[in-house]
Amino acid sequence: MKHSADLTSLLQQLLEQCRPLYSQGKVANYIPALAQVAPQHAAVAIATLDGQVHSAGDARLNFSLQSISKIFGLVMAMNRLDDELWQRVNMEPSGQPFNSIVQLEWEKGIPRNPVINAGAILVADVLVSHYSASKTAFLTFLRRLTGEQNIYADQQVYLSELEHGNRNAALAYLMKSFGNIEAEVPLVLEHYFHQCATAINCEQLAQSLLFLANRGVQPGSNEQICSRRDAHRVNAILSTSGMYDQSGEFAFKVGLPAKSGVGGAIVAIVPQFGVITAWSPPLNRFGNSVVAMQLISNLADELGLSLF
Ligand code: DON
Repeated sequence: MKHSADLTSLLQQLLEQCRPLYSQGKVANYIPALAQVAPQHAAVAIATLDGQVHSAGDARLNFSLQSISKIFGLVMAMNRLDDELWQRVNMEPSGQPFNSIVQLEWEKGIPRNPVINAGAILVADVLVSHYSASKTAFLTFLRRLTGEQNIYADQQVYLSELEHGNRNAALAYLMKSFGNIEAEVPLVLEHYFHQCATAINCEQLAQSLLFLANRGVQPGSNEQICSRRDAHRVNAILSTSGMYDQSGEFAFKVGLPAKSGVGGAIVAIVPQFGVITAWSPPLNRFGNSVVAMQLISNLADELGLSLF
């Protein structure tokens, strides 16, 4: 492993190298509040199991967590339901865009995996049905993982998504028609949009997910956040589906479990080592940040982090 100062200067160097790629992507605008974010922002952070955090760029500036929230929701749901969860949602890559509807009808309301929108809405149903105040429980979970109180849901993003959430509502009602959603659909969507609207920064996000690199144990507090088996399962799902229909390419080029969000962030888990996060708002056609993907790819290459 590189010396601390060397690692920080490597992050700065890679950030400046990759930053110009932002002009190749487009900031998400199907959620209008996200379209207001400046496209030039860029950040990278790496948190390691020994408690160190290194970063470069806008690593303490908040962004919208969006689909990366699906990881936290899934871990919370796995902590409440055992194998019953896997009868309601599958664990296969979808080969379809993250908000696709077509497969869901063919497959009788069972989402392909928990990180496409349909799957995450199903997970939101589990949370609404098994936690007395699921939105608060979600934020409390993130605050516990980061050790910081200033993690909150951005109201403007939340309302913007609620207002423009017809596609997600369609997914939820389709699953409800198959009997795979227990709670009332508006309550489930409210939870889902709320968790997607979480505001967080790169340093906090990297630290929050260290337990996935450490067999379920959060290194700072030594708390068992999920079982070793579930940490394995989440990493497996992130490896095969976390980057949607670019997951194969990401495994091919980078070789780490990862998850993207339309806020422009990507998180990659490096088992037994730490967590990398990168953020830059412009996205490619798969909904993955152009700069963040390249940054993580170059960093993993430079440090030899691939699992394969
Ligand atoms: O439901 C949506 O469409 C957004 N709240 C989240 C989508 C997302 O982040 C996909 N990731 N790349």
